[in-house]
Amino acid sequence: MKVMKAFVAGLALMGLAAPGALAAGGAKPLEEGKTELPDWSFDGPFGKFDKPAVQRGFQVYTEVCSSCHGLKLLSFRNLAESGGPFDTGEPDDSEALVKEFAAMFMIDEIDDVGDVVQRPRTPADRFPDPYPNPQAAAAGNGGAIPPDFSVIVKARHGGADYIYRLLTGYPDQDEIVDGVLHVNDEHSHGELKQPPGLYYNPYFGGDVSSNWTGDPRHAPYGGFIAMPPQLTDGKVEYMDGTVATKEQMAADVAQFLAWASEPKMQSRKSLGFAVMIYLFFLALLVYFSYKQIWRKVEH
Ligand code: HEC
Repeated sequence: MKVMKAFVAGLALMGLAAPGALAAGGAKPLEEGKTELPDWSFDGPFGKFDKPAVQRGFQVYTEVCSSCHGLKLLSFRNLAESGGPFDTGEPDDSEALVKEFAAMFMIDEIDDVGDVVQRPRTPADRFPDPYPNPQAAAAGNGGAIPPDFSVIVKARHGGADYIYRLLTGYPDQDEIVDGVLHVNDEHSHGELKQPPGLYYNPYFGGDVSSNWTGDPRHAPYGGFIAMPPQLTDGKVEYMDGTVATKEQMAADVAQFLAWASEPKMQSRKSLGFAVMIYLFFLALLVYFSYKQIWRKVEH
């Protein structure tokens, strides 16, 4: 009985201690007003993408992110797939839209006599890369290479939540004077000096203690990222009239990137459901046939 009690108490303690332990591991406890993460419609076994959000996110990607981040595994034709930004419900219309959109981007091709010529892209072509090679990408971004977005939501712990937090998590840039951020919250008190070309973000992995003037045991969570803050209220003007707050754009672009990481998610989930129903009836059938066949046999 005693052992049992100790076990239950231990469990309860673990439950209490766990959030603290996680916080100490680097993830920042959510700040006031930021506790709300978007409620992703694509989560769960029956989840679907929120098409208007995917469309808005696509607009944010093309207008803001595509100058640095590629989507090299995505073909233009994917845009018309179910749940995709160009899925109008009418396959012919969707295809026409994709065709028109793809043709806005040129691609190099070798012609019959071996010369390099340019032609407009077709729906079968991949998305253009913002930089000709990794060296050019690094040179354009102070040595850091903006990662390709094709599988970014799958490749980062936390997925769409992480993208949302990273984009909205930068401190208010007005508070940074000559690269120095004054921190004064319940966890840390002191000054944080941003190295040139890097930006403090509490959700980016790393260690900022060598640039911290306060108590080293209470250095702020997070690290320095080579990407400047990208989103400010009103950065894009949404075609559907939605008010483009920083949080709205971050949620929409995260939804779009979740779609881009798995454009076939919706068909996968609906097929999965059909297969489960099929297996259920098959199991019933097999069970009753078994009963029927062995009905007269003693076993
Ligand atoms: C001016 C170029 C530039 C633009 C525009 C830009 N980024 Fe970045 N981004 C970078 C660079 C550079 C890095 C690599 C940072 C590093 O490793 O320190 C990066 C990294 C990232 C990462 C990966 C962080 C990690 O965990 O490794 C994400 C996610 C990201 N950017 C999202 C976005 C989104 C979403 C947009 C558009 C709203 C955007 N970026 C626009 C330059 C850019």
